[in-house]
Amino acid sequence: MAAPSVDIVREFADRSWGDDGATRAVEDVVESGHVLAFPQLGFALDDAEKRFLDPRWAAADAKNISVRWPGGELRGAAGSADDLNALRAMVVRFAEQSEAFALRLFPHYRGHLRRGNTSFRPTDVAGRVRSWRQDDTRLHIDAFPSNPMHGTRLLRVFTNVNPSGEPRRWRVGEPFEAHAKRYLGAIRRPLPGSAWLMATAGITKRRRTEYDHVMLQLHDRAKADAAFQSTSPQARADFAPGTTWVCFSDQVLHAALGGQHMLEQTFLLDVEHLHRPETSPLRTLERLLQRPLR
Ligand SMILES: [Fe+2]
Repeated sequence: MAAPSVDIVREFADRSWGDDGATRAVEDVVESGHVLAFPQLGFALDDAEKRFLDPRWAAADAKNISVRWPGGELRGAAGSADDLNALRAMVVRFAEQSEAFALRLFPHYRGHLRRGNTSFRPTDVAGRVRSWRQDDTRLHIDAFPSNPMHGTRLLRVFTNVNPSGEPRRWRVGEPFEAHAKRYLGAIRRPLPGSAWLMATAGITKRRRTEYDHVMLQLHDRAKADAAFQSTSPQARADFAPGTTWVCFSDQVLHAALGGQHMLEQTFLLDVEHLHRPETSPLRTLERLLQRPLR
């Protein structure tokens, strides 16, 4: 059976990361669950940086090369001190350009958008071996077992820097509210004391709220549900090299099918600083369940 299609990618013609770019004040577009795609907005590498487009820079057991904020330390990379400084400078430049870009697209978030990790992924999506729960080729919303978000939004800026023409191949899926309704009836409340226990044992970085519990359940149930994966509303979305795209990854159902060489910047934003907080997963789930999930 063919899956019904969705249409959630919106293209914009911007060619600049800075303030001179065309698109601005599109908070409602991203908050309503669209992916904003900029096919003419690439991240420029200088000639010396092109050598970094190679998986050999990733440390043996690292999934990503990343820069952690606020300190700006480089993690997950292997090389000489000079190489690592140059690699870090490239990733930091991406962080700064994507932050200026996000604040132009979403001026309502100014003063509230917090910079999360910046990651550089020179490894091929297809080559990774994972359990089903870690298999990001299955449609999912982003939710993390060890890192409770308490409702804080995950806004992500991605750029494909592949040097040989290979697109980043995604699938995108149904709207968040429809997705939540699909599984909410089957999700039980967390066991009393379990959040305290996981935080005390160091399994979670802080207390897992009922919001985090429900989001993780949605993530896991979607990935484990073969019928959902093959027959739910969805569409392919290919992002060619030189394309930048932006979405709330805790809201947009997405799957990364393939591709190599990508930069990604995560931003964190508290629900009350959205232009329309009622569009958030937290408020949507609270409305559907008719109780607070804090
Ligand atoms: Fe994801």
